[in-house]
Amino acid sequence: MALVSTNCTPFSGLRRSCSKLDKTHSQSFVQQVNSQLRLSSSRKPCRAVIAMAGSGKFFVGGNWKCNGAKESITKLVSDLNSAKLEKDVDVVVAPPFVYLDQVKASLTDRIEVSAQNSWIGKGGAFTGEISVEQLKDIGCKWVVLGHSERRHIIGEDDQFIGKKAAYALNEGLGVIACIGELLEERESGKTFDVCFRQLKAFADVVPGWDNIVIAYEPVWAIGTGKVATPQQAQEVHVAVRDWLKKNVSEEVASKTRVIYGGSVNGSNCVELAKQEDIDGFLVGGASLKGPEFATIVNSVTSKKVAA
Ligand code: PGA
Repeated sequence: MALVSTNCTPFSGLRRSCSKLDKTHSQSFVQQVNSQLRLSSSRKPCRAVIAMAGSGKFFVGGNWKCNGAKESITKLVSDLNSAKLEKDVDVVVAPPFVYLDQVKASLTDRIEVSAQNSWIGKGGAFTGEISVEQLKDIGCKWVVLGHSERRHIIGEDDQFIGKKAAYALNEGLGVIACIGELLEERESGKTFDVCFRQLKAFADVVPGWDNIVIAYEPVWAIGTGKVATPQQAQEVHVAVRDWLKKNVSEEVASKTRVIYGGSVNGSNCVELAKQEDIDGFLVGGASLKGPEFATIVNSVTSKKVAA
């Protein structure tokens, strides 16, 4: 993280090369920051701490899971519609399938809508499934795939999830690709192995990375109230970015958003957001409360803190 003198232009992210700064390098760092932020000299300068290794825009998704009913969802949408959200954040919510249309029709365009699942191919005789074409038909822009509840409760494996991701991306849907280790995998030192294996299953089949956001969600932190420490999350996020650099490309490593999920709430989001490789959040429980979700979205401001 680095202390720099810059102005308050909307922020969209910086490369890791900016992070380790000493006085001798500060001049070139400031130039780099200025060029990346496209500063206008007419703006009033302020000091800022910038913490973002990737170059992608901050991204916050709300995963409503299998929660809500018409009435509570109407209230949640109305709270989201009246919330003040920082500009420099992509905001997405994923309601249950049956409410997708209702939400899409009543939610502000400022927030995009995601599905929580999609079928591996074109629709047809697949009872209970929803196709990517149907999701696009109602204005859905994203789908969450590889969520641990689908991996570990429903039993979806890496290859099946990969097929879904490839199909969705080929059809133009964005994919929030979830990865993450179980508690016993962490305790036996397998965190990176598991995350890299799950990442590879996506990398092996996807047509490109422009529409993928990676969500690192340690399973032991999901819905448990036991959030990963900022250091634990940062450690895995750096490793994910390194993996992308080595196995895909430097460009993809820089621009792909790596977001954190697992018991994120209005109180812990700021400390997490300050980590330079955390590019946003995937939020479950706390996304069911409009004002709290807005607080999490707005934690982007801790990426650039006026000193
Ligand atoms: P949680 O869920 O925030 O309730 O832990 C996160 C998720 O499963 O995406």
